[in-house]
Amino acid sequence: MRRSLVVGNWKMNGSKSSAISLLTGLKASLADVSGVEVCVCPPYIYLSEASDSFADTKLAFGAQDVSGNAEAGGAYTGEVSAAMLSDAGCQYAIVGHSERREYFGESADLLAKKVEFLLSEKITPILCVGEKLEDRESGLHERVVNGQLMDIVDRLGVDVFSQIVVAYEPVWAIGTGLTATPQQMHAFIRKAISALDLAIADEIRLLYGGSVKPDNAKDLFAMQDIDGALVGGACLDVESFSLIVKAQETV
Ligand code: 13P
Repeated sequence: MRRSLVVGNWKMNGSKSSAISLLTGLKASLADVSGVEVCVCPPYIYLSEASDSFADTKLAFGAQDVSGNAEAGGAYTGEVSAAMLSDAGCQYAIVGHSERREYFGESADLLAKKVEFLLSEKITPILCVGEKLEDRESGLHERVVNGQLMDIVDRLGVDVFSQIVVAYEPVWAIGTGLTATPQQMHAFIRKAISALDLAIADEIRLLYGGSVKPDNAKDLFAMQDIDGALVGGACLDVESFSLIVKAQETV
């Protein structure tokens, strides 16, 4: 039985005071939620204090990225290691978000290193995959997504998929108000993994990301292979994010 998971990716938003008020609001509004795991991913700089101050809540904390240069420490200016994330109370970390692939040119080798370092610190990677609009329009979406999955399998083996979460986020649906009808792609991802290992494919949690809002969450979560969401814009508002979490709780 897969445990559902709703993750809020704050991206580069917020301030010290807005972070506290968002988390205070979520603490109250999600106090009675059960049967769905909720994780928030603030910017690095707010993580440690947030996870300390809100340790008595049901919220799990995650990072938006991690260094792929070294697991613990070293001369990598500006980077934050998996060991530091663990020290800061992180249980999850997003890897390979399309914004990082696009703006920071992250390679498959680097992403595999990130996954490897997170796993050795017992942090669950949330691996993002998804095609761009031009891939979809030219019918290459399945090939692109399969390639992103196999980039990890080729480097780390299929067994790592028993320890990670995959988020399918079509790039054209992020922040645009457009949502994919993604069941087909989630089924495709599960099938691609099942070709390598049936049990892992059955267990792995597959999230959907891309303009998830309170009014479309229920339909998305009702889809057979979707086990939760990776939410951007709507996670910055207590009411919207709580409604999304509750939509997952009631499917
Ligand atoms: P939006 O929900 O704002 O479309 O963002 C999705 C996303 O990129 C989450 O990682």
